[in-house]
Amino acid sequence: IKTLGVLTSGGDCAGLNAAIRAVALHARQTYGLRVLGILDGTLGLMDRPLRYRELHAEICDGRLLREGGTVLGTTNRGDPFHYPMPDGSYLDRSPDFAEGVRELGLDALIVIGGDGSMRIVSRLCAVAGIGMVGIPKTIDNDVHGTEYAVGFSTAVNVVVDALDRLQPTAASHHRVMVLETMGRDAGHIALNGGIAGGADVILIPELPYTLDGVARRIREVLAQGRSHALVVVAEGVRTEQGRPVTDQLSGRYGGIGQYLVDEIAQRTGVETRATILGHVQRGGTPSARDRILASSFGVRAVELAAEGRFGSMVAWQDRGVVEVPMSMVTVGARAVAADDPLIQTARGLGVYVGEA
Ligand code: F6P
Repeated sequence: IKTLGVLTSGGDCAGLNAAIRAVALHARQTYGLRVLGILDGTLGLMDRPLRYRELHAEICDGRLLREGGTVLGTTNRGDPFHYPMPDGSYLDRSPDFAEGVRELGLDALIVIGGDGSMRIVSRLCAVAGIGMVGIPKTIDNDVHGTEYAVGFSTAVNVVVDALDRLQPTAASHHRVMVLETMGRDAGHIALNGGIAGGADVILIPELPYTLDGVARRIREVLAQGRSHALVVVAEGVRTEQGRPVTDQLSGRYGGIGQYLVDEIAQRTGVETRATILGHVQRGGTPSARDRILASSFGVRAVELAAEGRFGSMVAWQDRGVVEVPMSMVTVGARAVAADDPLIQTARGLGVYVGEA
């Protein structure tokens, strides 16, 4: 191959730039490839004029390693095969993508994305007849086939930092603090961040819970002489009855965090407050772990592309980078498994993580 494209797709996270840098450095220095960064995900190849930037040595210096976000831009708007147009109609934009690939003379594409992006972009690449290699990223860490995705470590650090800040104010006011983290389908951020930040209750979408169980744990903590408690909940958690909280936006609830505040205060009589972390988990300086992961992934992805090993994704397993087939990745989100060792760890620490 001579010309390599790289794009970021889906929600951003810390470490994307470190992955872009690693791809560009290795592809240029080791293989002498021309590297084109496609702007705003697949849109850069579908829109006219085409939108891309050449990744020269100057832009791949150490600065990229430290920067959050993605210098290439990204998108998670619209299905390219059924793309919403301003007039309300839908258009299949895969022919535009294929034409864009041809016009730029791309021989291979490295896609830095989550499971949804991998699914969509691999279909687009099949239409365009171009080989693709994936690099997993998502703060949610719910990509199949890999133990870690780029962005997760930094997001967990943000959760831990938030709990470190919430604990002293909770203690000062004798309050329960509820911290709502991201994690639409999976509870990896909440589980990892909650353990590292000393939460008393951790609720994740994968495990059913009862409000009585939550209140019981808080009362136990108070009975042991502590005047405050910390609760971590993933945004994807539903009400005790299993209803999505967004269905109830009619007034009473602002989200699962606020739902829990009301229920906990009522059941325990303790003043309770909610903090919704939101997109701060996605931004900021990448952790060392994310930089190492992104760099290792970027280097290996280039090697796979150069060897023509397409239809694969780089993944982290057992302390190193491996290659997994894309078919393993595109099946949907990877939930926290019922036998995840961290659930045992949490229970061993006395944390209420829902019903066994
Ligand atoms: O998939 C990553 C994620 O951060 C989810 O945890 C969250 O629900 C979602 O992205 C938010 O995305 P948006 O950028 O559309 O607000």
